[in-house]
Amino acid sequence: MTPREFKEGPRPPFLANRSFRLRGTRITDAQQSATDKYWQEFGIEPDHKIIPAEIFPNSKEVIMEIGSGMGEATAIIAHTFGQIGYLAVEVHRPGIGSLLGRISELELTNIRIINEDARVVMSDLMPDQCLDAIHLYFPDPWPKSKHWKRRIIQEDFLALVWSKLKPGGYIHIATDWVAYSNWIEEKFAASAKFEGGEIAKPDFRPTTRFEQKGITKDHKVRDFKYFRKG
Ligand SMILES: C[S@@+](CC[C@H](N)C(=O)[O-])C[C@H]1O[C@@H](n2cnc3c(N)ncnc32)[C@H](O)[C@@H]1O
Repeated sequence: MTPREFKEGPRPPFLANRSFRLRGTRITDAQQSATDKYWQEFGIEPDHKIIPAEIFPNSKEVIMEIGSGMGEATAIIAHTFGQIGYLAVEVHRPGIGSLLGRISELELTNIRIINEDARVVMSDLMPDQCLDAIHLYFPDPWPKSKHWKRRIIQEDFLALVWSKLKPGGYIHIATDWVAYSNWIEEKFAASAKFEGGEIAKPDFRPTTRFEQKGITKDHKVRDFKYFRKG
């Protein structure tokens, strides 16, 4: 049993712009083997309603991570907070294979993985007010102005995030791209739906290899936390 091949089907207009890079489907033997062994246990097919409280009936909170990548931060954070349920959403299967390998190594039971565009998961599959928090770590920065429309943080994305968070819920974002930091601050400042701003990097968020590469290139990493208003 493996996750469905990700296919870009017809999209509502606000999803017309792909927010992720197409990387092909090259998967290592270790990633494929972890997928073959563990997908059935930890994967959720995006073909039915996704009710976080039903997926994690014994968890005190459920946090969704958008774009879990290779799952490095996801697995470490889930290991630290065993009482919280984590829904990792990622479009790339190799990364999902890596995360499944880490789940097995750390013997985690509090992660489930969805292989779909997180915006589709939120708009089509999840009920409103079902998430305690959302993690969005190092979203693709799309540096060229002709690609800014692909940046995941847009007005309609904020509306979607607002509707899926419970009252008092928040989104925690980290980026190492200065222009994207400014973009994040501008988009949230223009929205009446959130309050918050920059925070110090919380100790629980590990420095991943991806982040370390940016730091080596003198990128300035900034964390932001915005709470749902109302
Ligand atoms: C730059 S990587 C960062 C990965 C990881 N969060 C980290 O910190 O190492 C961004 C990830 O977000 C994923 N992504 C982008 N847009 C997405 C979307 N709409 N739904 C799910 N994943 C998405 C990409 O596939 C990619 O793996």
